[in-house]
Amino acid sequence: MKTNMKSLVAAVSLSVGGVYGWGATGHQAVGYVAMQFLSPKALSFVQTSLGSTYSQSLGPAATWADEVKSSAAYAWSSELHWVDAEDNPPTSCSVSESRDCANGKCILTAIANYTTRVVDTGLSATQRQEALKFLDHFIGDIGQPLHVEAIKTGGNDISVKCSGSTSNLHSVWDSGLINKLISANYSNSVTTWANTLATRIKTGQYASLAASWISCSSTTAAATRRSMEEDVSGLLRPRAITPLKCPLIWAQDSNKLDCSFVFSYTTGTDLCTSSYYTNAVPIIETQIAKQGFRLAAWLNVLFDGATNLP
Ligand SMILES: *[C@@H]1O[C@H](CO)[C@@H](O)[C@H](O)[C@H]1NC(C)=O
Ligand SMILES: *[C@@H]1O[C@H](CO)[C@@H](O)[C@H](O)[C@H]1NC(C)=O
Ligand SMILES: [Zn+2]
Repeated sequence: MKTNMKSLVAAVSLSVGGVYGWGATGHQAVGYVAMQFLSPKALSFVQTSLGSTYSQSLGPAATWADEVKSSAAYAWSSELHWVDAEDNPPTSCSVSESRDCANGKCILTAIANYTTRVVDTGLSATQRQEALKFLDHFIGDIGQPLHVEAIKTGGNDISVKCSGSTSNLHSVWDSGLINKLISANYSNSVTTWANTLATRIKTGQYASLAASWISCSSTTAAATRRSMEEDVSGLLRPRAITPLKCPLIWAQDSNKLDCSFVFSYTTGTDLCTSSYYTNAVPIIETQIAKQGFRLAAWLNVLFDGATNLP
């Protein structure tokens, strides 16, 4: 029987927190990238809702969901940070909402729930801020390949080396590779990193890809292509937590990396000092940029009615 992330959470003490999404840096970078693409009403809501506590920015607010999940009051939210795809990488990769989120408690349903709540004017400002912080965080996590993978507890049970230290595959993807990258190339500054990624989206190597990132189409299911606008209006009228196409496409997109790259190392190699690092960096940078862009587009559809992006 496969262990999965759910059983890990039950097994470890919640107070020490065994499972993280992208580490703080990855999450903040997603939020800072998104800030550069918000349309007027989305930006206004974000600034007012987050206020001075979060410097009016999705960057600092992106880590809140990881900070609270180990507290008793938010223990229920810890299983919302992932979906346990019961596939078989690297041989076959897939995400199925009915198979992998049967109890309705996973990152897919969480994104649907907080999408309805962030624009629900019947909720308090505090509840809507909470919904925004969850979206800020979960739209980041869903881009981390090992957050959409059940095998070996999403890689938590796979021991690997990173820069000479013993770590695990999940943690190396959350933070080991990113920490080395921003220290080596971005003066340890998450805003420098995020600005670089945003510039690549606007005028650089990602510019030709950005439209496809927010089209909610998948290469394997072109027939089921659906726009973000259609996805969101289907969810909000009537307001109900129905399966959403876009988050599933995002999950499938990152889950594919579990077959194409994540497990492609030779046992014993140091993942942070070998060619694995060099090859992982462009993947991680693309995933962070992509999720930041998707977060902005999603909020733009919710508050301004269209993705409204370059
Ligand atoms: C939606 O979010 C609210 C607030 O966090 C939570 O109480 C509720 O259980 C969630 N609903 C579902 C179906 O996840
Ligand atoms: C990081 O810096 C190294 C050394 O200067 C360079 O070779 C590499 O291309 C840089 N990588 C990125 C992603 O900027
Ligand atoms: Zn998380």
